[in-house]
Amino acid sequence: MCGIAGYLGFREAYPIVINGLQRLEYRGYDSAGIVLVNENKLTIHKTKGKVSDLKELVINKNTEANLALGHTRWATHGIPNDINSHPHVSNSGNLVIVHNGIIENYNTLKKELLTRGYTFQSETDTEVLVNLIEEVKTRKNCKLGKAVQLALKSVVGAYAIAVVDVNATDEVIVARLGSPIAIGIGANNSEFFVASDASPFIEYTKDAVYLEDGELAIIKKEEDIVIRKINDDSIVEPDIQELQLNLEQIEKGGYDHFMLKEIHEQPNAILDTYRGRLLADQDIIKMGSVDNNIAKFLNAKRIIIVACGTSWHAGLVAEYLFEDLARIPVEVEYASEFRYRNPIINKDDVVIAISQSGETADTLAAIKLAKSHGAFVFGVCNVVGSSIARETDTGAYTHAGPEIGVASTKAFTTQITVLTLIALKLGNLKGELSNSQFHKYIQEMSLIPSKVAETLKVNAIVEEIAAIYKDAPNCLYLGRGYNFPVALEGALKLKEISYIHAEGYPAAEMKHGPIALIDESMPVVVIATKKGHYDKVVSNIQEIKSRKGKIIAVVTEGDTIVKDLADHTIEIPFSEEAFTPLLATIPLQLLSYHIAVMRGCNVDQPRNLAKSVTVE
Ligand code: F6R
Repeated sequence: MCGIAGYLGFREAYPIVINGLQRLEYRGYDSAGIVLVNENKLTIHKTKGKVSDLKELVINKNTEANLALGHTRWATHGIPNDINSHPHVSNSGNLVIVHNGIIENYNTLKKELLTRGYTFQSETDTEVLVNLIEEVKTRKNCKLGKAVQLALKSVVGAYAIAVVDVNATDEVIVARLGSPIAIGIGANNSEFFVASDASPFIEYTKDAVYLEDGELAIIKKEEDIVIRKINDDSIVEPDIQELQLNLEQIEKGGYDHFMLKEIHEQPNAILDTYRGRLLADQDIIKMGSVDNNIAKFLNAKRIIIVACGTSWHAGLVAEYLFEDLARIPVEVEYASEFRYRNPIINKDDVVIAISQSGETADTLAAIKLAKSHGAFVFGVCNVVGSSIARETDTGAYTHAGPEIGVASTKAFTTQITVLTLIALKLGNLKGELSNSQFHKYIQEMSLIPSKVAETLKVNAIVEEIAAIYKDAPNCLYLGRGYNFPVALEGALKLKEISYIHAEGYPAAEMKHGPIALIDESMPVVVIATKKGHYDKVVSNIQEIKSRKGKIIAVVTEGDTIVKDLADHTIEIPFSEEAFTPLLATIPLQLLSYHIAVMRGCNVDQPRNLAKSVTVE
């Protein structure tokens, strides 16, 4: 959480950093700030609110500078207000810092600094850190890089930081532990960019270094970047990577919101996910990271899936897939619960960690725990080079492209796609799926992108339904089997972007409590596709109808039975039951999107949320 953008070079730093912050706003948008460093002077502008509020604040002010650090915040320590906003300056006024993460022992450090006469303006852990660096620098009479390294050795927590000394304005010190940071390198080291991900600098350079945990970089104009290990000061050779990202991928491309764009990107995103992996004409599923570890998968006594939020819902779909198609027992765990409850993990367990961002703190901790018990850990991530992608033993990228809307959409369907490919492959190798069944599934899978495209045509109908229910205070989502996780995901989408209270339930569980809520004012979204325990779901619909609930049913095209019962039906193409989550989820994404827009909510940046949850 929190986004950092910085520039050191020959161009005007302000527009680069401000645009960069806007691209990083998905990481947090409680407050925003910038420091411009010019002629040994720091000029700081910061405000509660979004980057657009910061821009307003800076209008008509002198922004000339070739060095600037910016920050967009998701508040952890201290409420979102102007004072708690970053950047933070040390007591002498010489050092300035931007920080993403949490300094867990900040209270102890603060007490120590208070006894040494330091004073604090804000409630933040970050202001403690910058003063700790200052204290070390003064006491040791050393350069900034050394002071940052020594100070960080006494810090417990997570951080990505960028620090500048007003007396050395050709230098930025960057360090990372647990929170991502990328450094863009301009031609001949003439300019450098620092950012939480590469999006702020893709139009300037394709060369980037992603700092590893425990590393510190000394960035100096016209000089090669120097990377050192924080714990022992040893030098690390920079691994300069070529970025694959392009500008088009991070723009809205004519859509009103990133979320809508990303919903519509799903046919291509799914295709990109299985491109080169699903060889439908040869009846082959080829996945290097699975093939190279096939014995581990085939001998697994159990698969444990760890994830959070929407990724956890993808994990639940995978539970049905692995158990149904490959007959491997699966447990799906909230990473936050798993990591703290002394779980039983065996050496022959395969742990699958699912994460769009690849930075979720709880998922990362769950992976470390599983590895410490000797389990083989496989990652399913979207963000290339992310912490989870690096921490896992191996894994498969979803290749969904950047997901910028805070509510996850294409990440969900592409995660399911990866997991489906693995389940089918294992099912066939284990003899649970005959070659002819495998062939049938592969052929069906290859049609999913076009069926998703077909499903997207329900947009207009869904918009009409949204207009009817946009003011409902509550909403219930029901599904059975493979579509139970889809119901959970539909409810999560609605609550997170429209702030309507919503609950997802297995349809049969309704009788055990939620049915008490049903009356004529309660919309109930039911996934009632053919093959998906259809008759049972029809009975559940009858039960809702008898209590006058309003039924919005997602049905297979051509359905007549549910059509007669439901208040509204949304038709999706027929598919094998195992693939229905990939289709049934689309109308639910659209429903929450339209309701949120009609309620005037900020769809791409819902309140209190952030895209990348790097704190536990
Ligand atoms: C919901 C949503 C979150 C994330 C969760 C995990 O739309 O986006 O629930 O799914 O924070 O994030 P990742 O997948 O990045 O680990």
